[in-house]
Amino acid sequence: MIFRQLFDATSGTYTYLLASRPGGEALIIDPVLEKVERYLQLVAELDLKLVKAVDTHLHADHITALGALRDRTHCITVMGEQTKADVVSMRVAEGDRIAIEGLRLDVLYTPGHTDDSYSFLFADRVFTGDTLLIRGTGRTDFQNGDPRAQYDSIFNKLLKLPDATLVYPAHDYKGDTVSTIGEERLYNPRLRVKSIDEYAELMNNLKLPNPKMMDVAVPANMRVGLHQDEIARRGWALTAAEAIALRERADIAIVDLRESGERDKHGVIPGSLHAPYPSLQQQIGPGGMLHELARSSGKRIVFYCAFGERSAMAVQAAQDAGLKTVCHITGGIGAWKKANGPLA
Ligand SMILES: [Fe+2]
Repeated sequence: MIFRQLFDATSGTYTYLLASRPGGEALIIDPVLEKVERYLQLVAELDLKLVKAVDTHLHADHITALGALRDRTHCITVMGEQTKADVVSMRVAEGDRIAIEGLRLDVLYTPGHTDDSYSFLFADRVFTGDTLLIRGTGRTDFQNGDPRAQYDSIFNKLLKLPDATLVYPAHDYKGDTVSTIGEERLYNPRLRVKSIDEYAELMNNLKLPNPKMMDVAVPANMRVGLHQDEIARRGWALTAAEAIALRERADIAIVDLRESGERDKHGVIPGSLHAPYPSLQQQIGPGGMLHELARSSGKRIVFYCAFGERSAMAVQAAQDAGLKTVCHITGGIGAWKKANGPLA
């Protein structure tokens, strides 16, 4: 396994790079915009392919690199389903898995610091975001923070993990890099409370100043910009209503780019083909299924995904590969459902 803990000294943020092998797929957690060149250099040096960029929550103290990494690597951007960040191309919830080649993270919903805070369990370690810090916990006084929800997340989820589980937080301001669940249970001063009321009382009286970057970072992180806006400007997009009207035509092939877990959970467009986004480059290249479909059958390929972001990147990639009749459904299956499109 490849595991790197990277640090942004300006915001005190830890970023984690994970991969199962040199030459394989990689995933990054909580990347910081100013560090993008460093991440991409490291990814290249380790001969990795970045396929997913994940934020544990909407950050208030730095600008996320999710948008920049998406633009540079065409990776899938992942956050929790509650998030107000626009850049997300895959939303996850409690019990879901975030998988790349050779490894997977189990998704734990751990609200409290914000209402979109998640932790990710991977083998012997858990990435706790700002829910559980080393000898601390994330503040709960803005972004729909809630000390009672955080108490529940910590005491009823994170502290239920085995004591030896390594704790990798999103921040540290003292120089600590890693802890364990057992250690935090014993020595974290915030956890020495006897009740949820006592915890709420403690958290409601911290009287912390707002983060320096908050007024810049929160709006910037909510509106990174959508890839599908540009695709629509180029005329390569259908609205959900247009796609519903076209869906039974013989010269149309609708292609689902989502992963199997998303298809099982949210349903599929009847009669659509399945080509997961990570396999796209092979599929659109010579000999690939989508290449043959577009070239030999002359069908117009219509991509869709969860919200229209992966499909927008796929349209661009297919156009670049010479498949000129390809388009996608703006807003993905989410928009399709809102327009009362049928599901299978
Ligand atoms: Fe935070």
